[in-house]
Amino acid sequence: MILAPSTTELFAFGAERLLDLAADYAGPFFAYDLGVARERFARLRAALPERVRLAYAVKSNPGLPLLETFSAAGAWFDCASAGEVSVVLAAGGTGRRMVFAGPAKSERDLQAALFAGARVQVDGIEDVARLHTLHTGDEPLEVSVRVNPASGVSEGTAIIGAGGPSAFGVDEEEVAEFVAAARAYDRVRITGLQVFAASNELDAGRLLANHRTALRIGRELAGLLGHGLDLIDLGGGLGVRYTADEPSLDVRALGAGLGRVLSENPWFEGELLLEPGRWLSAPTGVYCARVVRTKVSRGQRFVMLEGGINHLLRPLLTGQSFPTVALRPGVGMLGGPADGTGGSLVPTTLAGPLCTSLDRVAPATCPRTCARGTSWCSGRPAPTRSPRR
Ligand SMILES: Cc1ncc(COP(=O)(O)O)c(C=O)c1O
Repeated sequence: MILAPSTTELFAFGAERLLDLAADYAGPFFAYDLGVARERFARLRAALPERVRLAYAVKSNPGLPLLETFSAAGAWFDCASAGEVSVVLAAGGTGRRMVFAGPAKSERDLQAALFAGARVQVDGIEDVARLHTLHTGDEPLEVSVRVNPASGVSEGTAIIGAGGPSAFGVDEEEVAEFVAAARAYDRVRITGLQVFAASNELDAGRLLANHRTALRIGRELAGLLGHGLDLIDLGGGLGVRYTADEPSLDVRALGAGLGRVLSENPWFEGELLLEPGRWLSAPTGVYCARVVRTKVSRGQRFVMLEGGINHLLRPLLTGQSFPTVALRPGVGMLGGPADGTGGSLVPTTLAGPLCTSLDRVAPATCPRTCARGTSWCSGRPAPTRSPRR
């Protein structure tokens, strides 16, 4: 959906600043506002109870200046590869403020996490066995186990996919078996839990429902282990708006709710950890690409950009367009004044420069009157279809 810059708070920069940047820099570029990064981190930190640690999920954007900014603000980091560990260390992060997670950790990944002193989250008994061999310290290595809950609040766009079969963690119904098997590896001690069920959630109440599930699983895990847990990692999942009409996540309600979750669970004396990615990073940056040409093909408008999925793959992977603004209205893709009302906008596909029809930054999205949202839509009302047999 193409928006007018004045109608939305979705962008780190206003149109004027972006036009200045576009005059100074050739080619497609990403631009970030580190002040926004500082403000986001401080806002979320202030909303959370003291006992909730805040880790930045590096996979969301591993850019060094962003990591340095979060590190200086006191962030923990959630890493998923040896490369992420090294860039966090380069940015001033430390192993004491680092968790390491992933469903397919290579030996190099595990070595990097151990070298840094990160808290490793094991995804199954194989991780426990490998850490038992790799760990060289005198004391047992303290790790967390990721558990895939049997049920959870589901996502609008499947990213994590709770409640079903999953590549992540130990299935909740197999935790007892896992704990029994892990007893054979005395160089590894399970003292923490990670449960991350749904990503990009805009409703604090739904996030908190999953967090309550995590605490319930934590209590059962502690019972099986015969000792308390020092860390329960609730994952990321704090959503951001991808369109102007979506609500913003109420982080103060989330923080207050987490305070209640802690007081409802006096058995738990450790710390909670949140590891948001997009909530901290997405509003800090924009991607700018010049329009090379426009065309109408069989009734559908195309705008061809000088960059596409070679720089920005996510819209293609999830089928969810990024919010987009035309900095200079009147370049040919708008059917009328770009005054933000949407009434006169024409569905337009933003195509990239690659020789594949997969290269779509944003498929045409119909105005609400049609709401079909397909890449070929001409904006006319959808025809009535007979039901499929
Ligand atoms: C383990 C882990 N933590 C945190 C995140 C960040 O997710 P979000 O951007 O929804 O906060 C992800 C994203 O996939 C993840 O896999």
